[in-house]
Amino acid sequence: MSSLTVLGCMWGDEGKAKIVDFLGANANVVARFQGGANAGHTIVLQGKKYVFHTVPSGILYPQTKCVIGAGTVIDPFGLRDEMRSLMDQDIDFSGRLFIDERAGLVLPLHKKLDGLKEEKRGAGKIGTTGKGIGPAYADQASRNGLRFGDLQYPDWLCERLAALYESHGLKWENPDEELSALQEVWEFLAPFAAHADVLVRQWYLEGEKILFEGAQGSLLDLSFGTYPYVTSSNTISGSTSVGIGFPPRWLDKTLGIYKAYATRVGEGPFPTEIFNATADAIRKAGNEFGATTGRPRRIGWFDAVAARYTASLNGLSAIAVTLLDILGGLEELKICTGYWLDGQKLPGYAFHPLELAKIQPEYLTLPGWDDDLAAIRSLEALPANAQDYLEAIQDLVEVPIEVVSVGKDREQTITVK
Ligand code: IMO
Ligand code: MG
Repeated sequence: MSSLTVLGCMWGDEGKAKIVDFLGANANVVARFQGGANAGHTIVLQGKKYVFHTVPSGILYPQTKCVIGAGTVIDPFGLRDEMRSLMDQDIDFSGRLFIDERAGLVLPLHKKLDGLKEEKRGAGKIGTTGKGIGPAYADQASRNGLRFGDLQYPDWLCERLAALYESHGLKWENPDEELSALQEVWEFLAPFAAHADVLVRQWYLEGEKILFEGAQGSLLDLSFGTYPYVTSSNTISGSTSVGIGFPPRWLDKTLGIYKAYATRVGEGPFPTEIFNATADAIRKAGNEFGATTGRPRRIGWFDAVAARYTASLNGLSAIAVTLLDILGGLEELKICTGYWLDGQKLPGYAFHPLELAKIQPEYLTLPGWDDDLAAIRSLEALPANAQDYLEAIQDLVEVPIEVVSVGKDREQTITVK
């Protein structure tokens, strides 16, 4: 009986899916607890690539049960298409995908509103994924939203949907068409509808191992991230409990994932961002283009000030460092060890966007390595400079490194004893 939460601890895209997939070998259940199709989780298995947006990354293990919790927001059409394309890749969902009936619904109007709101923000735009996540969560909070289980009651659905359009001052253009499309998508998804919280608690008590898969990252957390340049859900460790309906005292271990460098997609402050040829080289080597939107990701040095903040925020038991292989070939590497604001060194992270925009990072510079790390499977076999780089991260973040990823494939993973 145990539970493990796996979280991205920066601005998303930390390689969560790869680590969830690697650790998933030991889990009976993999559960998503927040976010929606804004996530883009990529797994490469024996050279074959799978991309997940709403489906949990445990689905590649045929025995693993996968849960989409009440704290998520689901685009039912997108989920159906994602499942169909995975079915075409021989993934079997029957009897092992459980979607909480209380998960929020992302409807076509939410995607439209997401676009309109971004347009209105102009230069102040957030750079959302355009998946309707913000408007869908806002409707949940204002209690006008619809939930997955509402799809089974056509009259209720019609009433709630009419009220939802009205609450946004929008005319419901094609009610019959939308209702019948929702009816159709429900027929496809109904076999997977569940009271997932009850099941997850029961499985835990029966001794099963539960792995909670975070989406986005701690610096995109609605309350503790770089607000307003954040997503609309809480992404930190405590969110597992509210997003699934899982008692906090049953949360055993939290593994935080950090990329060996930093990236950010969308707008918002990024103190260690770099714009030079090194950034281009990292972007190219790391294929740093969004899995959901295709946007080029912004690149920066590892930010140990931000990392220590999120490690503390999440109460991390251990960390995983991913994409270490990408840094090969660089003469020197930098790690941000301090934030300076208006000539003063701050005691930790900065919280206001106006402050974050002005931060002067203090850097530790370390020598790089030329070796290809792809085939290395132990910490000791890494080049000395790579070992030193990891040690610096571990010392600055103050949490032990337990996993290091040196390539996309499940196999290309080092477990630190
Ligand atoms: P995974 O799970 C990286 C970012 C968007 C934008 C902000 C708000 O793959 O790591 P939203 O559409 O959520 O309202 O956008 O959050 N964002 C992500 N960035 N990885 C993600 O997910 C993200 N999900 C949202 O780029 O800046
Ligand atoms: Mg992603």
